[in-house]
Amino acid sequence: MAIFIKTKEEIEKMRVAGRLAKETLDMITPYVEAGISTNELDKLCHDYTINVQKAVPAPLGYKGFPKSICTSVNHQVCHAIPSNKKLKNGDIINIDITTIKDEYHGDTSRMFEIGKTSVKAKRLVKISYECLWVGINSVRPGAYLIKDVGAAIQRYAEAKNCSVVQDYCGHGIGRAFHEEPQVLHYFSPKTEDVMLQPGMTFTIEPMINAGKLAVKLLPDKWTVVTKDHSLSAQWEHTMVVTDTGVEVLTLSDGESQPLGLSSK
Ligand code: MF3
Ligand code: CO
Ligand code: CO
Repeated sequence: MAIFIKTKEEIEKMRVAGRLAKETLDMITPYVEAGISTNELDKLCHDYTINVQKAVPAPLGYKGFPKSICTSVNHQVCHAIPSNKKLKNGDIINIDITTIKDEYHGDTSRMFEIGKTSVKAKRLVKISYECLWVGINSVRPGAYLIKDVGAAIQRYAEAKNCSVVQDYCGHGIGRAFHEEPQVLHYFSPKTEDVMLQPGMTFTIEPMINAGKLAVKLLPDKWTVVTKDHSLSAQWEHTMVVTDTGVEVLTLSDGESQPLGLSSK
C-alpha cells in the first residue's frame, strides 16, 4: 500500500491544478441552462482547458473515456458521458472537472439546478453539499479516513433519510488521477483504515441518493445510475492534509476553509 506524501513543491503544483479545475467550473456556470446539450458543455470546457489554461482535461482518453468532463443528470450518479441530449427545466446536473497541469491533477465537481427544480431535488443538492463539508471538517492529521471521515458522512446522510453510494469512492490524487488511498464515504469494518498525515492529497466526493443506495452501470460501461431511479447528487473537492488540519485546493469563491483548521 503506497500513499504518496507530497512535498511542498508538489503541493504548490496541486494548488495550481486545483485552481484551474475550479476555474473551469466557474467558466461553465453561466452556460448551464435549459436548452444546452451536455456535449456543448463538454466542448466549452475542453477548449477552455486546452486553449486558455494551457492544461489537459484528465478524463479525455482516461481508460477509454470519450469526453473531457462528466455530466451526470438526475438519477445518473456519476461518470455520465456528455451527449446531444439537452438540459431541461427541473433537471439537476453534476459537472465533474479534472485538470492536469504540470503533471499534477485537480478534481472537483458541483451540482447545478436547471430552472425551477422540485423541493426534493433542492433538498438533495443541499444535503449532498453538507455531506462533502462534514467530511472535509473531519480531516486533520491523526484522524482516520474510515472511522472519522467516512463514518461522519454516512451518519449525516442517513440522519437526513438519504443513502450513500458504496460502489464508488473518493481517492488519493497527485501525479495520478486515482491513487491510494480509497476514500470511503461510509463506515466499513472490512477495509483497512488509514491515519491521515500532513502532505496526503485526496478527494472527498460523496454520491448521495434520495432513495436506496443500490446503483447499476449502463451498457456504455461508464454511466452509473440509481437502481430505483431516485435522484442522486454529488459534490467534490481535492484537498491536502496540513500540519494543523486541511487545505481545500479546489475551493470556490465564497467558500471558506474550515475554521481553525486551515494553514493558509
Ligand atoms: N472525476 C471523476 C472522479 O471524481 C472520475 C472520472 S473518470 C472518467 O474521480 F473517466 F469518467 F472521467
Ligand atoms: Co475524484
Ligand atoms: Co471528479
